[in-house]
Amino acid sequence: MTEKRIVVLTGAGISAESGVRTFRDNNGLWEEHAVEDVATPRAWLRDAGVVWRFYQARRRQLLEVEPNGAHVALANLQSKFEHVTLVTQNVDDLHERGGSTEVIHMHGELRTLRCEASGRNEVRMQTQDLADDFLFCTCCELPSRLRPDIVWFGEVPMQMSEIYNAVESCDLFIVVGSSGHVYPAANLVHAANQNGAHTVLVNLEHPINADAFKEIHIGKAGELLPRLVEEWTSNRS
Ligand code: APR
Repeated sequence: MTEKRIVVLTGAGISAESGVRTFRDNNGLWEEHAVEDVATPRAWLRDAGVVWRFYQARRRQLLEVEPNGAHVALANLQSKFEHVTLVTQNVDDLHERGGSTEVIHMHGELRTLRCEASGRNEVRMQTQDLADDFLFCTCCELPSRLRPDIVWFGEVPMQMSEIYNAVESCDLFIVVGSSGHVYPAANLVHAANQNGAHTVLVNLEHPINADAFKEIHIGKAGELLPRLVEEWTSNRS
């Protein structure tokens, strides 16, 4: 039997039990911050200081949170199957710290910052990189200001052709902790269904695209995912 090809797409819900706020739950980030004030290119042009301080606070929070059982369960899944593509909408580094490798961050990452002149990104997570002053690149002769390495609303998500290639050829497509509000991520389950993949959802409540999933598990990812991965990998060495 050919090796099963698996694609996992995670959203903010997988990091919720680590203490990272989601976006659209009660007390979510978008309840306190208007998207257009902190997560759009226009916001950056209009008042870069407000945007910068919003992301610096979220970058500092990375030092205070730890991966939870759901992140570790996905790392276990990757270790047991050869073809697991892990795609995340999250910008935290909890998948990597939970043991996952080759994570595709389609909405960017908090750990890295992007040079406004060259577009190159660099990891900047030292103490001196986490204050509220703007930071400057190390790649240009005359250092240029760095911006958050985040895909803002209206910008193009990363590595979409790689993501669609994986989704259109997978046997199993699993979504964990996403409300299905944001495209193109919310469209991936439809692409998986079109290719005949089995589609599984693990989420605290029914998201708006719940009908697209063949199998649904409602509950906390930190509790459900370790058991599900145990089940999916039980007959594998
Ligand atoms: N376990 C499983 N699911 C959970 C948990 C949990 N412990 N806690 C919350 N959830 C679910 C919520 O029910 C919700 O459906 O996770 C989902 C989180 O949805 P959102 O806050 O909308 O986050 P997400 O779907 O990742 O948002 C997508 O929108 O704002 C942009 O770029 C941002 O990447 C983000 C994108």
